[in-house]
Amino acid sequence: MRSLTVIGGDDVRACLDDGESNLVDVVAHAYRLYADGRAVLPASPFLRLDPSRPERIIALPAGLVDDEPVAGIKWIASYPDNVLRGLDRASATILLNDPKTGYAFCLMEGAQISAARTAAGAALAARLCHRADEGRVGIVGCGYIAWTTLQYLRAVLPELGAVRLYDLAPERAHAFGERARAVGLDAEVADSAADVLAAEDLVVLATVASTPHLDVPLRDTQTLLHLSLRDLAPAMLRAAHNVVDSVSHVLTSQTSLHLAATTGGTDGLVAGTIAEVDRGTVQGRRPGRATVVSPFGMGVLDLAVARRVWERARARPRRRGPRLPPRPVAGRVSPAPLEDVPGAVRAWVQGRARELGVRDLAPDADLFERGLLDSVGLTALVAHVEARAGCRIDFLEVDPDALGTVDGAATELLRVARPR
Ligand SMILES: NC(=O)c1ccc[n+]([C@@H]2O[C@H](COP(=O)([O-])OP(=O)(O)OC[C@H]3O[C@@H](n4cnc5c(N)ncnc54)[C@H](O)[C@@H]3O)[C@@H](O)[C@H]2O)c1
Repeated sequence: MRSLTVIGGDDVRACLDDGESNLVDVVAHAYRLYADGRAVLPASPFLRLDPSRPERIIALPAGLVDDEPVAGIKWIASYPDNVLRGLDRASATILLNDPKTGYAFCLMEGAQISAARTAAGAALAARLCHRADEGRVGIVGCGYIAWTTLQYLRAVLPELGAVRLYDLAPERAHAFGERARAVGLDAEVADSAADVLAAEDLVVLATVASTPHLDVPLRDTQTLLHLSLRDLAPAMLRAAHNVVDSVSHVLTSQTSLHLAATTGGTDGLVAGTIAEVDRGTVQGRRPGRATVVSPFGMGVLDLAVARRVWERARARPRRRGPRLPPRPVAGRVSPAPLEDVPGAVRAWVQGRARELGVRDLAPDADLFERGLLDSVGLTALVAHVEARAGCRIDFLEVDPDALGTVDGAATELLRVARPR
């Protein structure tokens, strides 16, 4: 019998609070895996109990095939009327499976992960496509996704100090503004969504509109992060430089891009994907056009962030109860010998170097100087070594000065590792 760990909302939040910019890198890694054919993303079934109503529950299965392969599924419910009851619109759970045995090993609260990956993806797109940091952002639709996105944008746009807001429900825009002021931002509420677009170059659209409600000209300095996918008239998209996460996904489900493709064809409609812009094979901007980023939302991102949450949850000291057990490894009934520790350290460093594009890593290279290790990276390294080598490592015993090189880190973690 394998153990199933449950990570509740508070613990997920604590793990996500470890750093927005790190999650932007996690999301970028997942996009790259998908582009390289190392992520599996089947179609997502929609469950609607009443087809005439907007409520839906979506299953997003996915798999990541990298150094720490994992399979899993997000099961996310969208109930727009929840906000009238003072509840969040979306709720979700994520289940992780060991790809070798198929065993489910972790169930976690998923709405925060879903919001974090959406926001991290938006911040990544802003970093790649919106060259200037004017210190301002416009927001249309002032809900949970918009708030989370604002936090991630602040991580990649250090100058960000002001927001211009619009929401169909003015009280939501004003409440958002109060919250923004409380974290040190200037906030102004606009009279319409069109006013936000007229005033701001970087704009987040995070409404629950099901059909386009905006048809205005855009400037070539603008970047629209069209997270809600259905706000913009097809003509606006035909005039824009369109960047998406997955072409096949986003041209479905009555998104604005789907409508544009249906009415005007797909030729030249989509410039490319976020992964292609990241790689430099597609430009994030085109002269004379605004950039509109339309991310459909891929389950591989949820899975990558959930895996990171699992790793962090295992490395954190527990407030109560025992430490989380190691992830079950197929065929490994008894603990692995501690000799696995150096190999696990090397595998992690190599994976991290690949992720960050660091080449020619000499054995005596300084991991901190080369950007491969920092305090958060150390948490991930320890979690990886514990999982791979089936051991336990007490952070307090680790001497950070001994971790400078790959060999140093291998020797030091072997010194402090204890069998489980
Ligand atoms: N693309 C992705 O990967 C992704 C992921 C998660 C969520 N989303 C989308 O983000 C959107 C926002 O999600 P949320 O959880 O914040 O929802 P929410 O219900 O908490 O907030 C939506 C807000 O938009 C406002 N609104 C609705 N129609 C509007 C309009 N026409 N103009 C201005 N404001 C309007 C509502 O009053 C509400 O305050 C949803 O459409 C959701 O599907 C996208």
